[in-house]
Amino acid sequence: MKCLVFMLLVALSSAKVFERCEWARMMRSHGMDGVGGYNLANWVCLTKGESDYNTRATNRNTDGSIDYGIFQINSRYWCNNGQGPTSNACGINCSELLKDDVTAAIRCAKRVVQDPNGIRAWVAWVRHCEGRDLSSYVRGCGV
Ligand SMILES: *[C@@H]1O[C@H](CO)[C@@H](O)[C@H](O)[C@H]1NC(C)=O
Repeated sequence: MKCLVFMLLVALSSAKVFERCEWARMMRSHGMDGVGGYNLANWVCLTKGESDYNTRATNRNTDGSIDYGIFQINSRYWCNNGQGPTSNACGINCSELLKDDVTAAIRCAKRVVQDPNGIRAWVAWVRHCEGRDLSSYVRGCGV
């Protein structure tokens, strides 16, 4: 019983950090393969660089906006955190982007990549993924 309570507390308090192949399969099941013209390996590489697959990752930018979740989506343009101006183009509360259930985060990433910058909206993709051999990101995942 004590053990069960402890496990419940851990489940409530700990961030969901995906294992690489677990995340690749999750994205595939949400139709991310080919989104924006980019295969799954690009999306795995991008999220490795942005959040290390951590759904609860947050980072503050110099303009005061905050990047949220596994895709590090920005509060100035895409979601509302109640702190400062936002276009809220994904039409969500930023806290939705931090959930273990990644449905909202993936839906918003699909919206972000539709903008003219495409996948280049993510600095980590430009820095770590563009023009590279990304096959290792999905190797052994059965995707
Ligand atoms: C977003 O959701 C959180 C948690 O449910 C809530 O505390 C916060 O007030 C909400 N923010 C906005 C801007 O709606």
